[in-house]
Amino acid sequence: MRKNIVAGNWKMNKTLQEGLALATELNAALAGSELNCDVVIGTPYIHLASVSAAIDTTKIGVAAQNCANKASGAYTGEISVSMIKSTGAKYVILGHSERREYYAETSAILNEKVALTLAEGLTPIYCCGEALEVRNANQQNAYVKNQLEETVFNLSADDFQKIVIAYEPIWAIGTGVTASTEQAQDTLAYIRTIIAEKFGQEIAEGTSILYGGSCNAKNAAELFSQPDIDGGLIGGASLKVEDFKAIIDAF
Ligand code: 13P
Repeated sequence: MRKNIVAGNWKMNKTLQEGLALATELNAALAGSELNCDVVIGTPYIHLASVSAAIDTTKIGVAAQNCANKASGAYTGEISVSMIKSTGAKYVILGHSERREYYAETSAILNEKVALTLAEGLTPIYCCGEALEVRNANQQNAYVKNQLEETVFNLSADDFQKIVIAYEPIWAIGTGVTASTEQAQDTLAYIRTIIAEKFGQEIAEGTSILYGGSCNAKNAAELFSQPDIDGGLIGGASLKVEDFKAIIDAF
C-alpha cells in the first residue's frame, strides 16, 4: 500500500528561532494523536539539525529543499546529501519549479541529485509540473511525461520505488489558484498510468504521488479524497501550525 504524505515546504522563510518555534509547536500539536499520513517538514538547510533534534522524527520526517549535485569537495557554498543525512533529515525535495526556473536546474543536474540522494538512503520528493502556457495549450501530460522520462524514469525499478513524486503546476504555486480537484486528479492519474507503462502496475500502485499548489486547510480534504492524490506538498499553509495540522487532519 502506498503511503499518504503531507509534506511542508517552508521555502526561504523563517529564521532559525522562528523555524524552531514552528517545528516544536507542530510537534506538540501532533503528539498523542494517531495520524493517517506521514508528515514531513522541508526546512532551510541551516535549520535541519536543530529542528531534527527538537522534534520526534519518528512522527515528523525532516526534508532538505535541495542538495548539491556533487558528493563532496571544492564546491563553495554547496551542501551535500551526506551532510543533510548527518542532521537527521530523511528526505530531499528535488526539482522544485522554483529551482528549475531561478537556479537553472536541468534534468542532467537533477539526475545527479536524485542518484546521490538515493545512494545515501534518503528519499527524494521529486517535483514536476507545467507552466500556465503549457496548461492553456493542454500539453500538460506531454510536458510532465517528458520531465519524468528525462529523469526518474531512468532509474531502476528498485530505485524508482524509493521515491515520492510531487506534481505541482507552476500556475498554482503561491498564487491562491488551486488546480481544480478534477485537474489535479486527472494529472495524477495520468502520471500513475505512465509509471505503470514504464515500471508495471504494481509499482505504479505503490508510488505515492502528491499534489502541490495552493493546497490549504479548506481544499485539502476534497483533494485528498481523490483516488490518485496521495497527499500534498504544501508551501504557504505549512508556515502556520493551525493550517498545516488541518491539512494533516484532512486524511
Ligand atoms: P503553495 O502551497 O504556497 O502554493 O506552494 C506550493 C509549493 O510550491 C510547495 O512546494
